[in-house]
Order: sequence, then C-alpha cells, then structure tokens
Amino acid sequence: MRPVQVGLIGFGTVGSGVVRLLLEHAERFQRRLGAPLVLKKVADIDLDRPRPVAVAPALLTQNVQEILADPEIDIVVELIGGVTDAYELVMTALERGKHVVTANKALLAHHGNEVFQKASQVGVEIGFEASVCGGIPLILALRQGLAANAISELFGILNGTSNYILTKMSSEGASFEVALKEAQEKGFAEADPTLDVEGIDAAHKLAILMALAYGTRIDFPAIHIEGITRLKPIDIQFAREFGYQIKLLAITRDDGQRVEARVHPTMLPLDHIMASVSGVQNAVYITGDAVGPVLLYGRGAGMMPTASAVAADLIDLAYKISHGVPGRVPPLGVNDAAQNRRLVKPLAEIVTNYYIRFAARDRPGVLSKISGILAKYEISIAAVIQKGREIRSSVPVVMITHEAREAHIQQALAEIQQLDIITEQAILIRIEDPNLDAAQI
Ligand code: HSE
Repeated sequence: MRPVQVGLIGFGTVGSGVVRLLLEHAERFQRRLGAPLVLKKVADIDLDRPRPVAVAPALLTQNVQEILADPEIDIVVELIGGVTDAYELVMTALERGKHVVTANKALLAHHGNEVFQKASQVGVEIGFEASVCGGIPLILALRQGLAANAISELFGILNGTSNYILTKMSSEGASFEVALKEAQEKGFAEADPTLDVEGIDAAHKLAILMALAYGTRIDFPAIHIEGITRLKPIDIQFAREFGYQIKLLAITRDDGQRVEARVHPTMLPLDHIMASVSGVQNAVYITGDAVGPVLLYGRGAGMMPTASAVAADLIDLAYKISHGVPGRVPPLGVNDAAQNRRLVKPLAEIVTNYYIRFAARDRPGVLSKISGILAKYEISIAAVIQKGREIRSSVPVVMITHEAREAHIQQALAEIQQLDIITEQAILIRIEDPNLDAAQI
C-alpha cells in the first residue's frame, strides 16, 4: 500500500504536537494503516521561533504553495486559526483535490457550509475532530457512536479558559479580573481573551455540535451568546447558598418542533455531574433517545490533547486513502445536512428558572414593590435572600423564580429598573434545575 503524505500549515503549539506524534508514533501509525503516514512539508511564516520538537530543515518552508501545489500531498492540515486566511487556504486545498484536517472552529462556524459543500463537490473529506473540545472524541461520538439516537438535549462546558476562571472565582472568591489575569499568566487565556470570555468560542463549537446532533446546516448566527465578564463573586456565593454552581454552559434542546441554541452563565445543581467539571476541563452531556445520558469529559485545549484529535483524523483519512474507501460517512453524519435547517426558538420564548440579583436601597416595602411587578408578569418567586445592611447605599436582594418566560422576565426587569429604590442594573442568571419546580409542588 502506498504511503500517505501530509502537508502541515501552522507550526505553532498544536502544530508542534502533531509533528511530534507523526514523528514519534510513526511505527504505530503504520501498523494501524498498513502504510506509512509521512510528514512531507511543514509551513509557517516564522521558522526561527524555538519549538518543542525538531524537524529536518528540508521539511520546513515559509511558502504554503509548496504544500498546496505538491501533487504528492494527499492531506493538508490547517492549523493557522483565524477565519479569512484559513478560509482561502482550506478552499484552495480542497479545489486542488486535497483532503483537509482542521482544528479551526471559527472557520467552520462561519464558513463550514461552504467548506463542506466544496469538499463534497470535489470528492474529498474534511476532518475536524480537533475543532470542538480538543482531545475529546466528540465529533466521532455524535457522527458515528450515537448515530442511532435522536438527540434531545446537549449541555456543554466547551471553553476551558472560562471554566478555569469560573473555578478560580468559585474556589477562591477571586474577582473575574484577578482570575483572568492568573489564567493569562498560566497560559490558559490569550492576551486578548474576548473570544473565550464572551462565550463566542463556545458558541462556535455549539454551532458545529448542533449541526452534527440534528443533521443540519451550521447556523452560528442563531445562537444566543452571553459571556462571563459580568459575573461577580457575590453571585457565585449566593448560587452556592441556593445549592448551585455557575458554569458557562452551551445548551441545545429539541422540543420536537424547535431547538434551543444558547451559551450563557448557567446555575446547575451542585450534584449535577457537569457542576463538578472544574479547571480547564471540558465536558459534554448528551441525551439520546436510545442511549439515555452520555458524558464525554477531558482536555479541550492544549498541545498534545488537540494534536491527538488532529492525528486521529489523519489516521482515519489515511486509512481510507490507502485502502481506497474515502467518503464512508458524510462530515455532518447525514447526506442531506446542507438542505436541512432547524427552527431555533427565540430566547424570548425560552421557559426556565431564573436567579435575579437586585441592588436596592434598604427601605420598607422594597420586596413588595419588586414582587408586585414580578407578579404582574406572572413570575412566581421560589426563594428570596436579603442580607446585611446597606453598603454604598444598597443591599443585594436575591430571588430564585419558578419557571417563567424569558420575555416576561425581561419586561419585569425593565420596569423594576425604573423604581427609585433600585441602584444598579439587575444581574440575571438562568438556572437549569429540573427538580426546582417539581420539589416545590
Ligand atoms: N480557547 C479554547 C478554550 C480552546 O479555552 O477552551 C480552543 O478553542
């Protein structure tokens, strides 16, 4: 069987991990494939930077054309990240008949439909296991392992940076700013952390997971996104008093007609298995109609975990190429994904439980004024805490609601905000606790 040749573009952290696996595990890969998996060329704009793995100088180039124009290269690995240049590069590789492996969730969230269409036209494949939750074999699980199931619900902790920050805020009472700084010092957060802490990276991943779960086009703009930047240690403390942990959760749920698609801080019961996922770990909790709940857990980022996923795609593709069996399973699991869409439920129509923290003056009648407006919008209160005396002329008034409609909550908050007893913008955190209303009955 002929060797399968790989060209790698982007010799950064993950690229170094992939090179290490290809060089150090070459013999093991060959045993799996029955043919060598050969690293033919590695391209990067900066070839002088110190790297944790040594590559023969003849393999290195600054010119991506040496990979894209090489007829012997079967698979192009794109690890440059970003959207615009990566899009050009991936589309060119596909047009030239090369299979592509990418770890680029932003590229797929924004242009995945075009990329998959191009691959299908040309008759080549895209491997993207590394694009969602690094080392966790999640794409494979949704596409193949859970193929028999209708997926009714998926909860994901999809961003390690945010989860690390929330864990620090929770275990040490650190502020968001202090926890972020520590994450940056430890290399868990970028100098510009916007994509991670604003929930955008998690939403990129959710868009890909939803397409796999429902067999549809990728629909990133339909996802409601909120990050963790407004969270305060006080909310984490109150959450604990109510028996909850706050996580940046990516949620999709299928009610049979429409699907929910949202990323936001969420309170989970302390005994929910996802509440104990801490630090930089990722986890995805998927419910299928046949299998029931399944939990996938592991490192969602980092050099070797992400390289593990890239290499898994390389091995899978190389097997198909060397055995002449490409195209076994379509990228999103079903043949007609490009024609399928699911209606996404607008956030205003979501029904769930809410945590609301008001900052109010400590005056007689405050609670009755707030609860009066909530009642007007059919929002029923399940629990209230008001603690301490005024500090800087306000006290926190914290409420947990029974199930309510998001639109009603937003209308009520807008009205409450107008009261002269309210001193700051209210904090709203959604709760996922199926037992909360059941327990009150
Ligand atoms: N920055 C991401 C995270 C990993 O913190 O999980 C790459 O998507």
